[in-house]
Amino acid sequence: MRRLEYRGYDSAGIAVLRDGELYVCKRAGKVADLAQTLGENDGLLQAFVGVGHTRWATHGEPNDINAHPHLDQKKLVAVVHNGIIENFMAIKTKLVRDGHQFLGGSDTEVLAHLIGVMFEQCGDLASAVRAALAEVKGTYGIVVLSPKTPDRIVVARKGSPLIIGVGDHENFVASDASAIVAHTRQVVYLDDGEIAEITSENIRTMTIDDVTVEKSVHQITIELSQIERGGYDHFMLKEINEQPDTILNAMRGRLLVEEGDVKLGGLQNTMGKLLSARRIVLTACGTSWHAALVGEYMLEQIARVPAEVEYASEFRYRDPIVNIDDVVLLISQSGETADTLSALREAKQKGATVLGIVNVVGSTIARESHGGVFVHAGPEIGVASTKAFTSQLTVLALITIMLARARGMNRERGVMLARELASLPEKVAQVLQNTEVIQKIAQEFKDTQHALYLGRGANFPVALEGALKLKEISYIHAEGYPAAEMKHGPIALIDKNMPVVFIVPRDGIYDKVMSNIQEVRARKGRIIAVANDDDTEIEDLAEFVIRVPRTYGFFGPIVNIIPLQLLAYYIAVARGTNVDQPRNLAKSVTVE
Ligand code: F6R
Repeated sequence: MRRLEYRGYDSAGIAVLRDGELYVCKRAGKVADLAQTLGENDGLLQAFVGVGHTRWATHGEPNDINAHPHLDQKKLVAVVHNGIIENFMAIKTKLVRDGHQFLGGSDTEVLAHLIGVMFEQCGDLASAVRAALAEVKGTYGIVVLSPKTPDRIVVARKGSPLIIGVGDHENFVASDASAIVAHTRQVVYLDDGEIAEITSENIRTMTIDDVTVEKSVHQITIELSQIERGGYDHFMLKEINEQPDTILNAMRGRLLVEEGDVKLGGLQNTMGKLLSARRIVLTACGTSWHAALVGEYMLEQIARVPAEVEYASEFRYRDPIVNIDDVVLLISQSGETADTLSALREAKQKGATVLGIVNVVGSTIARESHGGVFVHAGPEIGVASTKAFTSQLTVLALITIMLARARGMNRERGVMLARELASLPEKVAQVLQNTEVIQKIAQEFKDTQHALYLGRGANFPVALEGALKLKEISYIHAEGYPAAEMKHGPIALIDKNMPVVFIVPRDGIYDKVMSNIQEVRARKGRIIAVANDDDTEIEDLAEFVIRVPRTYGFFGPIVNIIPLQLLAYYIAVARGTNVDQPRNLAKSVTVE
């Protein structure tokens, strides 16, 4: 449960079966709070069948009652659930009419009652789950157990990930591999609409209509060290520091520097579609959406492919004009984001070729795409995304070079771009060695209430991402804008207390950004500049300068975001917030 806590952490609970009895313990707060309570009830965990859950509240506030597991009216079943039951109100009304009483406001409690009713009627747990789910609209990854059938659990999935870990006289279920990797590396990925009945010896998989499904067993490659903090104070700091390696991993075996070309096995089958595409639509959420924005610059400017970016959450609901000539590129660290998955299905249904840039191998987006590229960043545990972002950008750069070459870019230019890309891990390492000034700036601004982040071109999305990092983990209100847009409104915010972070590399629009800096300076804003090592003019204008090595324009964001990740980190630490598990957030947003 501790290993899964990063996915949701407002409350936690367990249910175990022992001697034909169901024991439940749930608490608002962290897994540590639950552990403390359990410590006072020693013996509760001595059981062979059980389930635990960490919650990210959707329906009902995060308190002891709404924590999972939920029981039915007669305590015949215990249920944990990720996702949302959309028609829970209608089901609840009917159950209340039949005399059911509910303790809290959770949609999962309604599902537990419904399964309980079905179980009472048929006496078979898997059949009861199937019958209940037939009445349910929404998304779920559920685990159900019952004291009446103490040797088994029943699990089902639609829209929320579930994997089954295959052990030796023991089996496991989890919503991601990190929870079970210490016990087994053999896993079965349950697909949407599937149910499994699991005992210590057996796994029976079937569809919701009771048709048996044969599933293959996959091997997971995560190492335990990847999901541990390894001496760092926080996962976020560890992951920021891993970036020289993770960026290299994203390119390894793919970037052919001497040939000035790129080979991406996962795109081989769809290369024809990619080359003839009318346009590429990039769609994603949050940080991954920022990566998409940088990707749009790369694809259009370097490969000259028309590209568009759209929030995945908006894509599906505006009936987009997408057809078989389009390639839709989904970007997702987790590969499970519900909004992004919906966009994938919408695009697929309209005939487009859908490709994924995904970190988690075996995730739904990876499995449902026609092709794609894994970013190989390793597990990202800190809720604020860092290394996944730079790996996504690296993969976008690879795709760009590959398309540019295939569309006629000469070898010489290809070699130049490939060399630039290959130099990035070293440049990122350089930035990571120089955190002194960033820590100083963090101390100076830790009590600010607002901050502005400004950049132009491919560094505009870097401004957005820098601002997002700050607000996510320090709760300081921060906005990102294209630098020139400032004068159209946000400039009204600038006074002597407003920190303004400029990303100002020495590129083709350097002078324009310098003019924007002057505009802020004239209004006494406090200027923090992310500038190149060889920039001698910036010192005269900025109060603080964070130095970054000079990088080829469209690859610059991969280096320039690093100091902004660190700035957010050190400010959050100075403010004493929970860096790895910031309030209200969840790592994998599997609800729309
Ligand atoms: C920000 C963050 C979120 C995610 C977003 C998409 O630090 O982590 O904004 O980027 O929820 O998640 P994925 O990439 O898993 O689809």
